[in-house]
Amino acid sequence: MTPDQVRLVQQSFAKVAPIVDQAAIIFYDRLFEVAPAVKALFPADLAEQRKKLMATLAAVVNGLSNIESILPAVSALAVRHVTYGAKAEHYPVVGGALLWTLQKGLGEAWTPDVAAAWTAAYGTLSTYMISEAYGSAQAAE
Ligand code: HEM
Repeated sequence: MTPDQVRLVQQSFAKVAPIVDQAAIIFYDRLFEVAPAVKALFPADLAEQRKKLMATLAAVVNGLSNIESILPAVSALAVRHVTYGAKAEHYPVVGGALLWTLQKGLGEAWTPDVAAAWTAAYGTLSTYMISEAYGSAQAAE
């Protein structure tokens, strides 16, 4: 990611902050619509889950300016996900639902540059998580 992309991700996420609860609802609705099979992996009551996801996303977005500082926590998160039943192939699906949600939430502020910056951010993060959880061979797929 370039420094400009980090800035774009941080600035655009700040715009979503006021509607973060709504965004989390939209995200899970979208995820379960495109990938109904993953619904069974999640607890039935998603209220707590939504809060955790958004708090973690906020921490990660904030940490992009100093990525080394967040890698240990992101690695531990990735390893926990193995026990949740998450597979490497789920990461692009989750990324798609996340970008879709941001696009809906940002409206006209979802410019091609913002889209490219989020694609790079999620790509960097998910490649790292997959390699920490399942090994680098899968991350390269
Ligand atoms: C960048 C990507 C992701 C982030 C930031 C993220 C974040 C989180 C967070 C913060 C939690 C709360 C529990 C914890 O901290 O361990 C969680 C739980 C969970 N995540 Fe993710 N996640 C990501 C990708 C995925 C993917 C690809 C899947 C696959 C379907 C997934 C499935 C789950 C499930 C099933 C739980 C709930 C476990 C339970 O409470 O029983 N996540 N995630």
